[in-house]
Amino acid sequence: MRIVITGASSGIGHELAKIYKARGDKLFLVARRIELLGKFLSENIFGADLSELDEAIRTGEAIAKWNPDLIIINAGISLGHSRDKLTNLNDFEKLFITNFSSIHPTLYPTLLKWINHSNNNLHSGSDTEKIDKKIVFISSLASLITLPSSIAYSTSKRAMNSYAEGLRFFLKPYGVKITTILPGFIETPLTHKNKFNMPFILPLEKGVEQIYDAIEDNKVFYPFPYIFYILIKILNLLPNFLRDWFISKSGVGVK
Ligand SMILES: NC(=O)c1ccc[n+]([C@@H]2O[C@H](COP(=O)([O-])OP(=O)(O)OC[C@H]3O[C@@H](n4cnc5c(N)ncnc54)[C@H](OP(=O)(O)O)[C@@H]3O)[C@@H](O)[C@H]2O)c1
Repeated sequence: MRIVITGASSGIGHELAKIYKARGDKLFLVARRIELLGKFLSENIFGADLSELDEAIRTGEAIAKWNPDLIIINAGISLGHSRDKLTNLNDFEKLFITNFSSIHPTLYPTLLKWINHSNNNLHSGSDTEKIDKKIVFISSLASLITLPSSIAYSTSKRAMNSYAEGLRFFLKPYGVKITTILPGFIETPLTHKNKFNMPFILPLEKGVEQIYDAIEDNKVFYPFPYIFYILIKILNLLPNFLRDWFISKSGVGVK
């Protein structure tokens, strides 16, 4: 398979790249720190800062030229968790472009190509109009509940879920599969900076194993760890006053 992974220089993206490399797939890896992408993983390493929209457009064009079968939208940042400070405009914009607004320009040229290809097959009378392609979004359980300490992060991931959902309906007739993965806490450089107790945190290899399996199984929506997901679901069903009380008591990034 020809697989694109954004944010492959560390954490989840890097670990996924190692698994696919060992399987013999061809990789196209994107990040700012190209020195960490590792020539041993792929010849196709692409340096881009996805917090800039024109860089995302450049990345999207390069990805489309490379002709991928699977694109994993994984690049993302968190600002840490602070209850004391309102996120400043610069940080908010940087996070939002990296985690969300860069996604459409990154995918757009490839999507056009896939749709055209499928339409052409259809018009030429072929019965193979469905194309075997896949997009994976690495969202977060934090998209399901917005704590006061991570407003920008949760908002960006909820926007991602919404985009992924719409794209899934839109691309269904063409045969393109969409998987949205919502991990809880996984040990990576992104979570190393968190100073609070992270419930149900998973070691990197274990977390990535679950992500890999969910991609292989073509899951539409894959939140994990399941117990953490259920607790959030229950919390969201409570009346607001009870929900507020639990959140303020939980200590998850909240005073
Ligand atoms: N770890 C968790 O607990 C957890 C839980 C739920 C969801 N997630 C999501 O999983 C994804 C990967 O996170 P991680 O935990 O593996 O963290 P990580 O180790 O910090 O990896 C983040 C990756 O994103 C890339 N990236 C960040 N900003 C970028 C930019 N402006 N342009 C291009 N690439 C950029 C980084 O590469 P460069 O710095 O080299 O550019 C890096 O490769 C993120 O979307 C995160 O929100 C993580």
